[in-house]
Amino acid sequence: MEPQVRRVARVIEPQPVVEGAGVRLRRSIGGWALDYLDPFLLLDHFESDDPDDYLAGFPLHPHRGIETVTYMLAGEVDHKDTIGNAGTIGPGDVQWMTAGGGIMHEEMPRPRDGRMGGFQLWVNMPAKMKMSRPRYQEIAAADIPVVERPDGTRVRLVAGRVDGTSGPVTEIYADPEYLDVALAAGAGFAQPIARGHAAFAYVFRGEGEFGVACDLGYRGELDGSLVRAPGLVVFGDGDEVRVRAYESPVRFLLVSGAPLGEPMARYGPFVMNTRAEIQQALLDLQAGAFVWAEGRDG
Ligand code: FE2
Repeated sequence: MEPQVRRVARVIEPQPVVEGAGVRLRRSIGGWALDYLDPFLLLDHFESDDPDDYLAGFPLHPHRGIETVTYMLAGEVDHKDTIGNAGTIGPGDVQWMTAGGGIMHEEMPRPRDGRMGGFQLWVNMPAKMKMSRPRYQEIAAADIPVVERPDGTRVRLVAGRVDGTSGPVTEIYADPEYLDVALAAGAGFAQPIARGHAAFAYVFRGEGEFGVACDLGYRGELDGSLVRAPGLVVFGDGDEVRVRAYESPVRFLLVSGAPLGEPMARYGPFVMNTRAEIQQALLDLQAGAFVWAEGRDG
């Protein structure tokens, strides 16, 4: 049977927000237009050449019940957390942080060559994992495979599989795929995505045609939706995503994952299943008992 192509369900224009101690971001998931794309809770894009937009950073703050994925394009972020990790992530690096039952950390951006850029994605965790031991994975740019095709397509593979190559981030509950795809003008890209998984593309350079159903080699009229950076494309269900760089190159994140289908209670950096669990997180924070400790495993 022919794979069913995923069409574009929605296109969302990122909204400007100020977070942390005063960092200017573009938010496309977790805002008024799209509150939740199960299992994805939040997608922030930060990119600036003005240090006033980001230097205040994200001083010590808590997280519970989620995973945060930080992917850097430019500049550096110094980080420190309560499970003993400290270091700096730079261009092309990925930090995949599982907050589980409770972590406190700080994330402080530092420019390199006057530039700063990257993304933070929040992935929800299932009820049975929410109070689990926190975990931290850091992947250096050099350890992220790059798939290059003769047509100029270049895919950085954080999680998932392209052309027989797999990305280094594994063992994440949502079974996510996280690709950074660059297409030259005229190039096409098709990627199978498991039916039922949530899928989005975040366009951050150029312009591309998303949700193309016709053959990618067909050069007639527009078939999908033309989306220009910055923009979020939410795909409908199907087996495969098809994208074409029309007249200009395009670069986008392509992310998918298995929805949880569980009730959600959300309050800032805490994402649980019930309001009572949110109350508990706040009480734990006040009592100085927020950070996950051995023996408190839920
Ligand atoms: Fe954080």
